[in-house]
Amino acid sequence: MSLLTVSTVAELREFVHHAKFKGLSVGFVPTMGNLHSGHMSLIKKAKKHCDVVIASIFVNPLQFNDKSDLTNYPRTLEQDQELLTENGCELLFAPTVDEMYPNGQEIQSIVSVPDVSMGLCGGSRPGHFDGVATVVTKLFNMVQADKAFFGEKDFQQLAVIRKMVADLCIPIEIIGVATERNRDGLALSSRNGYLSAEELDLAPMLFKSLQDIAEAIQQGNDFVSTLEQTQQRLNKQGFKVDYLALCRESDLKPATPDDTKLVILVAAFLGSARLIDNLPFPLNRTSD
Ligand code: PAJ
Repeated sequence: MSLLTVSTVAELREFVHHAKFKGLSVGFVPTMGNLHSGHMSLIKKAKKHCDVVIASIFVNPLQFNDKSDLTNYPRTLEQDQELLTENGCELLFAPTVDEMYPNGQEIQSIVSVPDVSMGLCGGSRPGHFDGVATVVTKLFNMVQADKAFFGEKDFQQLAVIRKMVADLCIPIEIIGVATERNRDGLALSSRNGYLSAEELDLAPMLFKSLQDIAEAIQQGNDFVSTLEQTQQRLNKQGFKVDYLALCRESDLKPATPDDTKLVILVAAFLGSARLIDNLPFPLNRTSD
């Protein structure tokens, strides 16, 4: 089946209704477009799990707290449609802002996910995760898929969506997909397009630093000083670190000496691009 693109909820619902009538399972991959191999790894996983795959492209104004970031966000619909076609996606839902928020954004009901939304990106981008949770809830209700696929690249976002689905009993299964990286380790991101050639050479240092921290901590080095030293080094190299944190994987609370499943999360500016990355890793505690 070739890719069909629709922009209204009515057309989307008709498509899904037909698929479900035929007894087909439906997988959903929400995106903001400017698609790359990272997004395609979600489509590929959805193809493996489900009979029919629906992607959405919507640059959601509600989750941007910086107007110019929203205006400059790359919009590349034709190129995106080609990639989705190549990877076997059946339907693209690409609504307008009016279709998504017909009563305006100001009086839109908001979904707010406490606790796990606080801190990290939630701390630096107030309101961001309310915007994400609200649009994802709307998309889930519009599509009514069996399974939805999210990247671990946005580790906190995935945790927010998992908690939201559990708290609100939304009947959908959430599947996390590992981060897709360049050979040099740089996590694929639409925001990498903002980097100059010089910044692109430097950018892989971000993930390299996370690997170094994980190794140092696994070797028994102190959490706090390891993070401080790495942050200083990154800032000297030309990054502006927004946060660098060691958390426990389950709820993104600061790691304690008893935790065994950890994740290092980082957000850093490189020029005008705000890059985020993370590295989950195990810590085997030996009793001494
Ligand atoms: P966007 O940034 O377009 O990302 C869409 C999905 O692709 C997210 O689940 C994200 O984690 C995943 N993704 C991005 N880069 C990836 C990579 N290198 N490897 C694996 N997965 C990757 O995230 C959003 O859009 C929005 O917040 C959205 C959920 C669509 C709500 O508006």
